[in-house]
Amino acid sequence: MPESPISFARGAPAPELIPAEQLAECAYAVAQREGAKVFSYGPGGGYGPLREWVAERHGVAAGRVVLTVGGLQGFVFHAAEQLARRPGRVLVEAPTYDRPLKILAREGAEIVALEMDEEGLDPDALAAELRRRSDRPSFLYTIPTFQNPSGRTLSPERRTRLVEVVREYGLAVLEDDPYGLVRFEGDAPASLLELEGGELVTYTSSFSKTVAPGVRTGYFVLPESEAAAFEERAVSTYIAPPFLPQAIVAEFLAQGRFEHVRAELRARRDAMLEALRAHAPEGSAWSTPEGGYFVWFEHPGANTTDLAAAAEREGVTFVAGPGFFAPGASDGVSSARLAFSYENPERIAEGVARLMRLLG
Ligand SMILES: Cc1ncc(COP(=O)(O)O)c(C=O)c1O
Repeated sequence: MPESPISFARGAPAPELIPAEQLAECAYAVAQREGAKVFSYGPGGGYGPLREWVAERHGVAAGRVVLTVGGLQGFVFHAAEQLARRPGRVLVEAPTYDRPLKILAREGAEIVALEMDEEGLDPDALAAELRRRSDRPSFLYTIPTFQNPSGRTLSPERRTRLVEVVREYGLAVLEDDPYGLVRFEGDAPASLLELEGGELVTYTSSFSKTVAPGVRTGYFVLPESEAAAFEERAVSTYIAPPFLPQAIVAEFLAQGRFEHVRAELRARRDAMLEALRAHAPEGSAWSTPEGGYFVWFEHPGANTTDLAAAAEREGVTFVAGPGFFAPGASDGVSSARLAFSYENPERIAEGVARLMRLLG
């Protein structure tokens, strides 16, 4: 059998990181205990005990929490709702998660990319864009912690400044934070939701990265005035979400099994950084995330789209930078997203060595 390609492309946990046996136990326990309830229609906002867990975690009323079928489905609802209320510009980071870019384009948004650097989104770039045009944008989409694709985290100072700007302009914000709890070291900065208080900031996260992606359970913490409309979108799309996976997640959390993947992912992150230090050609630069799934790699003068094709022939895959920039942008040509979540440390070391040989 030929060896399977070493994947730095998949922003997903490796199968061996999925706690399948524990999830099976949780599934049996909740199905036994709850019976028909988890196999019936129910509230569009999701399984009550899990909504309450989220509400407590964020210090909000459970009515402001809507569980979604993965975070991305919630993004579709949110983008549609915000753009229906206020059509026009959606501000995003450059680079940003590629799937929302496609959803926003499909929803007819005018996508405006804002500059970021090692400290995350530049609040001055945001303020400049808000001054540039008098019409208020529909919303800002930001991934402030262990960003997909760059692995960067917005610094505490910038978070404070960002919230000041947002308040000054009354700008709605979607804070997407599926990686925040996958922290290996360092202190977690306050979320934008915490800093702002939840009038302008909507917060979303997901159990895809902390429990398992196949449970398809994400959540939104919405401003009080927006929760009902959001939930109505869920009801008019799928009537009710599947309750069994949400109940499995609640049971998993109640048993205190949350965040088990951290040590494994940390070893993978370390293996990737070590291999980059050992093999990256001069002039290369990369992010050093304290958590999450991704390292952002840059090599001035490289064309990572060509590199991805050459790497595939060498049995290594990754996503080239341009896919993470708004359509029409010419950025990211020399950048690449390297996910360390899917491969074990030995294969990461081998994959990075092969990739860097192609650059060197
Ligand atoms: C930044 C970000 N948001 C949202 C998601 C969606 O996750 P899910 O739909 O699996 O909950 C992902 C998945 O990779 C992501 O990276």
